[in-house]
Amino acid sequence: MAQKIVLGNWKMNLNLFQAEELLNDVDRLKKEVPKDVQIGVATPSIYLHSALNILTEGKVWVGSQNIYHEPNGAYTGEVSADMVNSLACHFTLIGHSERRQYFNENNEQLKAKVNLALENDLIPVFCCGESLEQRKSGDYLEVIKSQLEESLLHLDKGSVKGVVIAYEPIWAIGTGETASADQAQEVHQFIRSLLTQKYDAEVANLISILYGGSCNPTNASELFQQNDIDGGLIGGASLKATNFIEIAKSF
Ligand code: 13P
Repeated sequence: MAQKIVLGNWKMNLNLFQAEELLNDVDRLKKEVPKDVQIGVATPSIYLHSALNILTEGKVWVGSQNIYHEPNGAYTGEVSADMVNSLACHFTLIGHSERRQYFNENNEQLKAKVNLALENDLIPVFCCGESLEQRKSGDYLEVIKSQLEESLLHLDKGSVKGVVIAYEPIWAIGTGETASADQAQEVHQFIRSLLTQKYDAEVANLISILYGGSCNPTNASELFQQNDIDGGLIGGASLKATNFIEIAKSF
């Protein structure tokens, strides 16, 4: 069975003092999270070191929101997979729709990032999802299929077991509009069936598929009850420790 996981994506929010306060709150409340649920925070890279110092005893994974698609070199301002790994981080987000949209990240670069993450012992949390236009046109499953095929499904069976997938419909991110449990389950099931076709059912059932998009303490439990939803990638609601922990308790 896939691991239950709830990750917070802080995006570009909070100054250092606010970040440390939130980290201390999460550290204090983490004992309320059931043992079989893994939680984690993707802080801005500049706070990863603080996060790793404040969050004790390993219950909370710490990860970056991005890595660069080259291993090292003259890329001013960028952060490499090796740097993130050397801090002892656990994961990195890859291909968030905001990165695709505002920074023009393409599928080829995302494929390189997936490879670099795995080579550097980081779990790639690979994000996929369709725009409102694509949903309305009915093409959304094809969109998700090509995002996965072009950046993730080149991995062999052994490597793909080390990834996490996050389905994040763009129209539900930060909008307060959540995909209904049925809408989300349809896509999660589709992703699981792609994994079964490409690999096998055993591998497909091991890979955690998280839902992201206005997930909050009120709607999390209905979403997490769906067969193929193994947890969440939480934006806005992860900026308050009580909300974040409440979501992690919603299975
Ligand atoms: P919101 O939870 O704020 O909609 O953000 C979702 C998201 O983008 C997580 O990566």
